[in-house]
Amino acid sequence: MAASALDRLAELRVMPVVEVPDPALALPLADALRAGGIPAIEVTFRTPAAAAAIEAIAGARPDLLVAAGTVLSAEQASLAVRAGAGLVISPGIDLAVVDRCLELAVGVLPGVATPTEVLMALGRGLDAAKFFPAEAAGGPAYLRALAGPFRGFRFAPSGGIGPDNAARYLALPSVIAVGTSWVAAPGLLAARDLAEVERRAREMVARLDAPNGTPAAPGAP
Ligand code: 3PG
Repeated sequence: MAASALDRLAELRVMPVVEVPDPALALPLADALRAGGIPAIEVTFRTPAAAAAIEAIAGARPDLLVAAGTVLSAEQASLAVRAGAGLVISPGIDLAVVDRCLELAVGVLPGVATPTEVLMALGRGLDAAKFFPAEAAGGPAYLRALAGPFRGFRFAPSGGIGPDNAARYLALPSVIAVGTSWVAAPGLLAARDLAEVERRAREMVARLDAPNGTPAAPGAP
């Protein structure tokens, strides 16, 4: 159900955003992320492999939080949910996508970057949204100002977030989690370098666990 996917996201604090080049890579990729300490994946509909990738992961690893990302239409939202996605994420707010997710009783994080867009999300009864593109829109200072009037509304920022700045977003009371493609960057997936994906997942978690997000020492476990 909607609430539990967002609650799980809030517990994890970080969502790896991925572009899966080949459905055969999906399960090993999800396993690498989990081995690195992040039992979650946002499979974006930026490659034709997305639905098959979601199906492969959700079918074999029902305990993972599997989100569909870059969902741009109600049809894609339906496709994602049929494939097994437990959360639908979009870079912007399209009320047709939101309404389809509400009908399907699946969690949805539409993208917002302005107060008007937050009001649109509130108008549909949502209490959380993606904040995108986070760094380009103004970073944590902008998000703090945006969140100001909307007490209780929660944000999951992404766009330009990595290990060096994630903690600055998570320090805001309105932020439940950050999204990042840094952990499983397209170049790593093209090279099938899942060992580096696992290492980056571990580094990301270590940074979030460190006081004030200070970098872990190189090579630290
Ligand atoms: C997203 O879809 O959330 C973003 O593309 C992730 O942004 P990043 O690639 O800058 O991490």
